[in-house]
Amino acid sequence: MKDIENQEDLQLLLDQFYTKLLADPAISYIFTDVVKIKIEEHLPILVTFWSQAVLGTGGYSGNLAQIHLDIDQKEHLTPELFNIWLGYFDATVNELFKGEKAEKIKTQALSIATVMQIKIANNRKG
Ligand code: HEM
Repeated sequence: MKDIENQEDLQLLLDQFYTKLLADPAISYIFTDVVKIKIEEHLPILVTFWSQAVLGTGGYSGNLAQIHLDIDQKEHLTPELFNIWLGYFDATVNELFKGEKAEKIKTQALSIATVMQIKIANNRKG
């Protein structure tokens, strides 16, 4: 099994990750009802984000924390939802890739998810 090396690899990873997310009614409603994402517009943004995070390319200029705080205002992003999200993310990485970058992307996802949940909890207190 190869490691994550380029944007094509990330495209494959994210495509298969979203197939899993969207097939599970326990989380898919966030992407179909709460925020109606257009997958063909959403995937390139995800590729850019993860390419910046693990391949060291630039190009992502969104505000990831605020975007998820806004979603949480519409529908609570619970710890259960984060667990489902992380479970599919790790599973997809493990199915497709093995190596340093594959480990790095899973660690990054966990650490971003942790920070996101702290920000969500703080925001809800305010
Ligand atoms: C409960 C877990 C999560 C749910 C339900 C969720 C849901 C969503 C939704 C609905 C969007 C589209 C927002 C929009 O276009 O307005 C989005 C965007 C995004 N999410 Fe998440 N998300 C979750 C966790 C995460 C985590 C942990 C990460 C990264 C580690 C992440 C990375 C992204 C990225 C990169 C975007 C694109 C941001 C942009 O458009 O600039 N998400 N998410």
